Amino acid sequence: MTTSIVVDNVSKTFRYQYNRTLKQVLRPDRRKRDAADDRPAPDATFKALDGVSFEVKQGESIGLMGLNGSGKSTLLKLVSGVMLPDEGKVLTRGRISGLIATGAGFHNELTGRDNIYMNAAMLGMTKDEIDSKFDDIAGFADVGRQLDMPVGNYSSGQFARLGFAVAVHVDCDIFIADEVLAVGDRPFKRKCLKRMKQIRESGITMFYVSHSAGSVKKMCDRAIVLDKGRVGFDGDVDEAIRFLHYDGDEEGDDDDVDARDEALASDI
Ligand SMILES: Nc1ncnc2c1ncn2[C@@H]1O[C@H](COP(=O)(O)OP(=O)(O)OP(=O)(O)O)[C@@H](O)[C@H]1O
Ligand SMILES: [Mg+2]
Repeated sequence: MTTSIVVDNVSKTFRYQYNRTLKQVLRPDRRKRDAADDRPAPDATFKALDGVSFEVKQGESIGLMGLNGSGKSTLLKLVSGVMLPDEGKVLTRGRISGLIATGAGFHNELTGRDNIYMNAAMLGMTKDEIDSKFDDIAGFADVGRQLDMPVGNYSSGQFARLGFAVAVHVDCDIFIADEVLAVGDRPFKRKCLKRMKQIRESGITMFYVSHSAGSVKKMCDRAIVLDKGRVGFDGDVDEAIRFLHYDGDEEGDDDDVDARDEALASDI
């Protein structure tokens, strides 16, 4: 089986960025105050990803999970090529499509219609290809008359709809998706999951970030859990969910969410 993605000992370092308040800048005893400040020095760095390695075979469907800030989106950006690793290497085979962040690459002053053209062109579609798929894309997004309104006025769900609609209509070998379902309403979530299932069944490699145990269970054959920038777990989805304590036996409130998740996932 062909290898689709290789992530080899990858690290990504970021700088802590914060600004001093004007008062802190102006105070004569600034140095002393800085020493007492428990924030890191302005030039301090941290590793958002630290020695991450794994391989994905063509056609595999991977759920990327982990707590907030564990490095999932950063890893997806490295896989999609919008960001480069500081150490290690990332290799991918074929064309990549997907949605890294809702609204990424959209221009607020342009209409939904124009943004579909822009976004699809950025993802490698030709003008003819977009023309022929336009109605399907607009139909999938289903934002009604807002399609001819500047996207700067869109709701976050409408933004996500437009981005996802374009992404799923690009012919690709690797489909990546970061939290696509987070802001969509239930009918849209159901539509996305259905479409992702088709993508998966057509043999496209899928790399899917989600906090939802239900949809990862339904959608993925393997899960990678990031833990503070390192691979904490890589393997069976149920075990990954247990590793994360997302199996609902810790907090009562989560049971409800999990039940809704399961229901949604079993709808498709
Ligand atoms: N461009 C950047 N500059 C500085 N720090 C960054 C940058 N991008 C991400 N980070 C930091 O890197 C860490 C990992 O962020 P990342 O967005 O990858 O997390 P995540 O796992 O996707 O979290 P979430 O579940 O909240 O989406 C976080 O601490 C974040 O603040
Ligand atoms: Mg993220």
